[in-house]
Amino acid sequence: MTLRINGALHTEAPRPGQCLRTFLRDLGWFGVKKGCDAGDCGACTVLLDGQPVHSCVTPAFRAGNREVTTIEGLAGPDGPHPMQRQFMEAQGFQCGFCTPGMVLTASTLDQAQRQDLSTAMKGNLCRCTGYRAIADAIAGVQHTEMADGGDAFGRSIAAPAGPAVVTGAARYTLDVPLPAGLLHLKLLRSPHAHARIISIDTTKALAIPGVHTVLTPADSPPRAFSTARHENPLDDPDDTRVLDDVVRFVGQRVAAVLADTEAAAEAGCRALLVDYQILPAVFDPEAAMQPGAPLLHADKGAEARIHDPHRNVVAEIHTATGDLAAGLAAADVVHTATYTTQRLHHAALETHAAIGWLNDACCLTIRSSTQTPFLTRRALADLFGLQPDRVRVLCERVGGGFGGKQEMLTEDIVALAVLRTGRPVRLEFTRREQFLAAPTRHPMQVDVTLGATRDGTLTAMQLRIVSNAGAYGNHSGGVLHHGSGECHEVYRCPNKRIDGYAVYTNTLPAGAFRGYGLSQTVFAVESAMDDLARKLNLDPFELRRCNIIGADAEMHGDVELGSYGLAQCLDLVEAALRRGNEAAPPDDTWQVGQGTALAMIHTIPPRGHFAEARISPRPDGGYELTVGTAEFGNGTTTVHTQIAAVVLGTTPAAIHIRQSDTALIGHDTGAFGSTGSVVAGMATQRAAAHLRDQLLDAATTRFGVDRADCRVVGDAVLAGESRVPIAELPATVGFGSSDGSPRSVAFNVHGFRVAVQPGTGEIRILQSVQAADAGRVINPMQCRGQVEGGAAQAIGAALYEMIRIDADGCVENPTFRGYHIPAWADLPPTEVLFADTNDSIGPFGAKSMSESPFNPVAPALANAVADATGARFRSLPLARDVVFRALHEPSG
Ligand code: FES
Ligand code: FES
Repeated sequence: MTLRINGALHTEAPRPGQCLRTFLRDLGWFGVKKGCDAGDCGACTVLLDGQPVHSCVTPAFRAGNREVTTIEGLAGPDGPHPMQRQFMEAQGFQCGFCTPGMVLTASTLDQAQRQDLSTAMKGNLCRCTGYRAIADAIAGVQHTEMADGGDAFGRSIAAPAGPAVVTGAARYTLDVPLPAGLLHLKLLRSPHAHARIISIDTTKALAIPGVHTVLTPADSPPRAFSTARHENPLDDPDDTRVLDDVVRFVGQRVAAVLADTEAAAEAGCRALLVDYQILPAVFDPEAAMQPGAPLLHADKGAEARIHDPHRNVVAEIHTATGDLAAGLAAADVVHTATYTTQRLHHAALETHAAIGWLNDACCLTIRSSTQTPFLTRRALADLFGLQPDRVRVLCERVGGGFGGKQEMLTEDIVALAVLRTGRPVRLEFTRREQFLAAPTRHPMQVDVTLGATRDGTLTAMQLRIVSNAGAYGNHSGGVLHHGSGECHEVYRCPNKRIDGYAVYTNTLPAGAFRGYGLSQTVFAVESAMDDLARKLNLDPFELRRCNIIGADAEMHGDVELGSYGLAQCLDLVEAALRRGNEAAPPDDTWQVGQGTALAMIHTIPPRGHFAEARISPRPDGGYELTVGTAEFGNGTTTVHTQIAAVVLGTTPAAIHIRQSDTALIGHDTGAFGSTGSVVAGMATQRAAAHLRDQLLDAATTRFGVDRADCRVVGDAVLAGESRVPIAELPATVGFGSSDGSPRSVAFNVHGFRVAVQPGTGEIRILQSVQAADAGRVINPMQCRGQVEGGAAQAIGAALYEMIRIDADGCVENPTFRGYHIPAWADLPPTEVLFADTNDSIGPFGAKSMSESPFNPVAPALANAVADATGARFRSLPLARDVVFRALHEPSG
């Protein structure tokens, strides 16, 4: 077959049945991404004779005698295509995994299509941005700013990776040439929710041409571990094996087949004969705690650190302050209700993937899509009995995480395969596998009791939280702990009682998800506060103001109020809602209402979060900054260059960053818990200051001038009247570290004005506004993008996203099409407002702001719907049919 790819003539024959996406990637065009392989997401978009197509559902042979343009071929001889430039100038991306497809589709739009982007761009999904920044890019709006030497703080500096992201040169996990001798790994997954594997007959699989090896539970290291990655491995129960002889959810790994091609590996999986002994299963966490319920991990001893394996309880929390009974007795009004939140899919566009090999020194090397390369290295070394310096884990750019990649889901089985075969091994999850087996948000049921006096003063708060851990306990203790914290700590109330249970069930495991437990409990508490306000006949804003902590609040442990902007956030949102906006309901049959909710979050996870940074001058006058934290769209790379540039009196462009590779630097706990700016950023600030101080010392000595008369300015030190290039001073390196303590507190308040159509149950968002207390904002464009993206993801979670599990424990909707993440047409713009605060703990007064914008969105929306309709929805999502039924059935 002959075709033109990016202007060059190719004569290549695709494999029978091969799609255009894999055909192009096989030829090295890595800008062609995979998000779903089902025509749903647009990550694989290319132009075929100038028209955008989803290459994953386009047979490769259809490109014969035609012109294919991938993102790499969009630029002209004079430089980037205008749309590529516009995406850079508006910063129309975060992780950038959707960007090649977005840019290609946008490059074809005519004026009429640009007026209706919801239709024109409906085939391209973005999980990170909420689309506003992309719409700005298409409209040619410029958001990025330049900075002169030393004044980068507070400016909307462009991400250093921008040019690579918009041209397709940015390398994600699998965007590397396939090494010689590569084996493809495919996993056979359990069709049963609970079963013991009696035997696996591999004979037929091994007879398939190209199949090299089959790994079964007999090949697995005996050691149990947790897929969750935390600084302290004891935070999670050791209840998982690489391959186990008991399967505890539909989709669990049963065996791995290694073959020369993916097709042979898949055929090998289908040819395995597995004899299962079916065991009773339990899917409901309340039922799982009852006597006689099927037990998932009763075979494990104390070394597994499971709270009570004989009740399926992974973790349990009981805390109390004051006297709850007295608080309830003192209340004039008591509100009690149960609120439930559903299972959510992270939907990072890049699926989990890893490539492993032994390097020339026989060191196990894993390139993976991870938020935690250093913790993954440690886990692999422990699991396989290797010295840590015999294991290297790295990632370049990660295509979205949202907590889902704070997990070791591919690296362990790839490492086992590499060590067993001595050959390079590649594993890439399909989107279906991502739905079936990658961790989700923990579904929770929260019983809330609130007591208050007539004037709205809270006298009692009680929460009982039951969290569905799924089949394994990864993150369940931490999520329960976090979920049962800040949601009520934000309120002053003398009498509180919190009981929480994280419970095993035979469903796919839950894990870390943006908000880490708080989005579920904030939904419960903030909905209940609104319910209480109605019972008291008080304005919900006033009820909150009456009870929130103030700037003088005493915090616990190593948490300090480094700054306080909650009251400001409430004022900002209330004023914005009062001001309203242009949007009106379609007609007067729609019911209109408004709602709000607030959330507090500790800026750093507890119990230690560590980061190291190193910076040194380069011969070209710039600096090389090395950090461990990973970049997956959270923008920390940009922030690090800004911080270092400010300290060294230079421009962010002069800071060249290397990151997320265990071979480069000592340690970094990882890019989770919103720590990229405040922990790793603090390490960078200290490293830059350490380097600056050494340079100043050297100049002081050389010129004999006062230290106070010296300063670093870009590539030189000014010493009194003299100027010395840094290259002429003795070689120096700056080191910095941070241990993530003390921790500060950030706040978010969201407000909605909505219209509800009682005839259909449809909810339309007329106004969406979020105020964020992010301390001093290092990069307003990026910070606004984090809030917009978090709000967008949370709107999907509030209105329709849900992983549905059938009566046999099977995921019913394992596709983007069946799950529905927000597309262009689904999202309103969210106005973002910042409180004016300056944090005493974070770098240059900044606070974290990446997961917290998610947390107040769902309750604010439910409160607005209750205001509009009078119907209170205590379960998520607020799907149209649910709303319709509630408005039309007397029982609700
Ligand atoms: S990968 Fe082709 S549409 Fe998603
Ligand atoms: S930037 Fe669009 S998916 Fe990440």
